[in-house]
Amino acid sequence: MKVLGELNVLGEQMTNYEYNVINLIASDNAFPKSVSDNPVYSGHIIQEGLVGRRPFAGARLHDIMEETAVSIACEVFKADHANLQPHSCSQANQAAYHALLSYKDTILSLDFQAGGHLTHGLKYNFSGRNYNFIHYGVTETGIINYDEAQKLALEMKPKLIVCGSSSYPRLFDALRLREIADSINAKLMFDLSHEAGLMAGGVIPNIVNIADVVTMSSDKTLRGPFGGIILCKKELSDIIDKAVHPGTQSSFPLRKITGTAQSLVLTQLDDFRKYALDVLANAKVLEYTFPSNFIFTGGTDKHYIVVNVKRAFGLTGSEAESRLEQIGVLSNRQSIPLDNSKKMSDASGLRIGTAWATSRGYSTSDFKEISKIIIEALSGSGEEKFLSRLSERVKALILKKKVNDVWHPKF
Ligand SMILES: Cc1ncc(COP(=O)(O)O)c(C=O)c1O
Repeated sequence: MKVLGELNVLGEQMTNYEYNVINLIASDNAFPKSVSDNPVYSGHIIQEGLVGRRPFAGARLHDIMEETAVSIACEVFKADHANLQPHSCSQANQAAYHALLSYKDTILSLDFQAGGHLTHGLKYNFSGRNYNFIHYGVTETGIINYDEAQKLALEMKPKLIVCGSSSYPRLFDALRLREIADSINAKLMFDLSHEAGLMAGGVIPNIVNIADVVTMSSDKTLRGPFGGIILCKKELSDIIDKAVHPGTQSSFPLRKITGTAQSLVLTQLDDFRKYALDVLANAKVLEYTFPSNFIFTGGTDKHYIVVNVKRAFGLTGSEAESRLEQIGVLSNRQSIPLDNSKKMSDASGLRIGTAWATSRGYSTSDFKEISKIIIEALSGSGEEKFLSRLSERVKALILKKKVNDVWHPKF
C-alpha cells in the first residue's frame, strides 16, 4: 500500500529527527528501554471497569496485577489510594472534577498566564465550559498570591481549590492552600503532572497527603509510558474510581498499568534519584546563565525556567522558539503574567526544560554550553550564517551522545 510505505519513510525521518535535536520542551522526556520494553506484561488484553467489577471475562489475573500496580503507586507516593487507568493527566483531571463537583460548581485555580493548565478552566476546554472557574494569580515578584487566593476563597466559596502548573517554576505552599481550603470546607486538589517524577525520586517534598486528590502524568519527569494517575484519600477512593469508570472512560490496556508500575518501581532506584537530582542541577545552570530579572519568578525549583524573551531579547516567545528550532534546539513559547494579550502567538515567555536532555545524559557542563548557545542565538540578528555556526555547536553536543547509550540506558 503506497500510503503505508510513505508513512514508514516519514517514521524513519522522524526517528532520525528525534536523534538529531536537543529537546528542551519541559513536558517531554526520553524513557529507558526497561520502560519501553515493559518486561512485566506488554500483551493485548484490554479490560474495562474496576477490580472485581469487570464487564468482560478473563479478569482474574488482571485484577491481581492491577491491585499490585495500585499498591506500588500508593507506596511510592505515600498515598491512600491510586487509580492508574486515566489515559492522561487531562483525563485524570476530568475524572477528579467529575467525582467532586456538579455542573457549574465553582473551582478556584491558578490563572493560565501565571502557569496554570488549560484543564484548569480555560474557556475552550471542557473544564471552562462545565465549571465556574475563578483564578488567583501571582504577585509582582511572580510568586503565587496566596492572599488573593484566600480572599477569593472566602468571597466565592469554591467547592474545590486546584493548584498545579505547566509553567510556574516554583514549588507551591501546599500547607497554606490546605488551610485556605479547610477554612471554607472545600476540597483541595494538586495537579502534579510535571513534577511527579521529582517527587517520586525524593528530590522535592512529597505533598501528596496534604491534598484530597492528586493528579499526574506518568510520562513527564516520572519517565514512564504516556498516561495519567490519580491518587486520593481513602474516603474518596470509591467516587474517584467510579468517576474514572463509568464516569469518564471505558476501556484501557493492561500494558498501560504494568508499564506505569514498572516505571514507578524504577523511581525507587539510585539511578533514578541521580537523574532527578541532575534534572534540578541542569535547571539551575539555566537559571544562573540567564539574568534573573528576565526569568519568571527569578529562578526555578523544578525542571524548567521561563524566560521573558520579549524583555531580554526583543523577541516574542514564538520567534524565539522558531529561531532555536532552526539550530536544532526545541523549546516552547509560553504566556507570562505581564502579557497583555492571552493569545499564545503574542506570548513573551519561552519555557526551557531539562528532563529529556538529562535522560539523554547531558550534564551541567553540557548545559553551560547549551545555555550559551541559546543566549547567543536569541541575542543575535538571526542571520543565516550566524545560526548555522550555532547549529554546528548543537550537532557537536548531539554527537557526544551515542544513540545506544541514550536510548538503552542500563537501568
Ligand atoms: C499542569 C498540567 N496538568 C495537566 C496536563 C495534561 O497532561 P496530559 O498531557 O498528560 O494530558 C499538563 C500538560 O502538560 C499540565 O502541565
